[in-house]
Amino acid sequence: MSNEQNRAEVDKRRTFAIISHPDAGKTTITEKVLLYGEAIQKAGTIKGKKSGQHAKSDWMEMEKQRGISVTTSVMQFPYGDSLVNLLDTPGHADFSEDTYRTLTAVDSCLMVIDAAKGVEERTIKLMDVTRLRDTPILTFMNKLDRDVRDPVELMDEVEEVLKIACAPITWPIGMGKQFQGVYHLLRDEVILYQSGQGHTIQDTRTIKGLDNPELDEAIGHYAQDLREEIELVQGASHEFDLDAFLKGELTPVYFGTALGNFGVDHMLDGLVEWAPTPQPRETDKRLVEPTDEGFSGFVFKIQANMDPQHRDRVAFLRIVSGRYRQGMKARHVRIGKDVRFSDALTFMAGDRDHAEDAWPGDIIGLHNHGTIQLGDTFTAGEDMKFTGIPNFAPELFRRIQLKDPLKAKQLHKGLIQLSEEGAVQVFRPLNNNDLIVGAVGVLQFDVVVSRLKTEYKVDAAYEPINVATARWIHCDDPKTLEQFQNKAQENLAWDGSDHLTYIAPTMVNLQLAQERHPDVTFRKTREH
Ligand code: G4P
Repeated sequence: MSNEQNRAEVDKRRTFAIISHPDAGKTTITEKVLLYGEAIQKAGTIKGKKSGQHAKSDWMEMEKQRGISVTTSVMQFPYGDSLVNLLDTPGHADFSEDTYRTLTAVDSCLMVIDAAKGVEERTIKLMDVTRLRDTPILTFMNKLDRDVRDPVELMDEVEEVLKIACAPITWPIGMGKQFQGVYHLLRDEVILYQSGQGHTIQDTRTIKGLDNPELDEAIGHYAQDLREEIELVQGASHEFDLDAFLKGELTPVYFGTALGNFGVDHMLDGLVEWAPTPQPRETDKRLVEPTDEGFSGFVFKIQANMDPQHRDRVAFLRIVSGRYRQGMKARHVRIGKDVRFSDALTFMAGDRDHAEDAWPGDIIGLHNHGTIQLGDTFTAGEDMKFTGIPNFAPELFRRIQLKDPLKAKQLHKGLIQLSEEGAVQVFRPLNNNDLIVGAVGVLQFDVVVSRLKTEYKVDAAYEPINVATARWIHCDDPKTLEQFQNKAQENLAWDGSDHLTYIAPTMVNLQLAQERHPDVTFRKTREH
């Protein structure tokens, strides 16, 4: 492989995720984005609402009913000369861990805001997560076909609440039934909106120049209002600054309607022009550049039973360097073995496809028969491990009970597999046969019981259990560890990946245990 080819493939790619509050329009934007990618002919098939072609298991039904999206899907599509990877993030607050890990696999984010509502609670939390890595953010103010809030006020709110400077790239003309289109501040042109064309790529009319008399003909009194408004906006708002954008300090802002498929392409133009190409990632040994020759990548997501017809688990791997080729061998660093990637998946337009070639920034799906865990690193042979993909200690605990005791093996298998996805964690106490499920949010408990039923044919229910928190145990000295294990046995458990965990009935108990065993480390997060 030549270095130039590698560079060219890296330069082409943009890998991003959408962050938003539920109902702001993430799914609708995803549909339109794919429409632009010509990956699908007619928008409206992502959720498979009407088509019924996409078989979905019951828990997906559940997420639909609750209006949330539990899964993280991956889509790749061409846009202009670029190849764009879009990683979907779960929208519900209970899935923040999953979202956190997905955001470690992208190089930029699109923030979607419902312009009638402004900055909502979930967006604030997600922005906090993106800030941990200073991820560059683009902003789309959605639903301009409705009566929305004043655009100046919206931008002020973003700046104040989210602490990020706003640079409008487009500016809306009217709103709701009177929505006329947008003025593109950098291109100095007005792009006119026509309603009722949400399912196609619009043939838009563009008028060059704010002073063009054609504008007055086309939109009447809005033309003069716009001229005055733009003068004010240009005086009062930030100018786009690439450096500040790349540092995550400033966001380019676009206005439009995802439902009406208007404005999404302006945002995509900005994404391919400004958003970073695949970025380097840190390992325990060195920084890995995307142009490094050898293949490397990390697993940020594992999902069981994506397709009810294939009872498999898929590990999503973000490629950091080198090239993936079907049939190649790679080192599975944690277990120290070379494995063959015989049939990895790519994610074109939501459908699974066999990947031939993939490059840095791309996501591939590896079939997982139980050997791959979250955070695993694969390389061309080098012993290094990508860092920064943690598990968080759960805060809620339940004991899980079988209704049919003969299904114990199934239950066990199901729980271990579901815990590999990272949404819940399972603990097996050292000195009894309980199975304890831990989660960061309540909703995950429901999802697990529902999935156990549909995917593993196991009827299970929860019982309350007296657990306040859990900590992963670390100790370099085997002797000290053994002593600790003996003394603290009744509070110890194995987690789904066979890591020793301290299960504390109260915070005071945890504190005492820590004081009694100063040579043992109690960790709140577990790096995979
Ligand atoms: P989400 O994934 O962020 O949760 O949001 P989603 O795209 O599902 O959109 C939430 C609701 O907002 C949907 O309506 C969708 O049609 C609507 N919507 C999205 N973009 C726009 C827009 O630009 N203008 C208007 N007016 N509405 C928009 P719903 O009735 O809840 O669902 P559906 O059954 O119509 O899909």
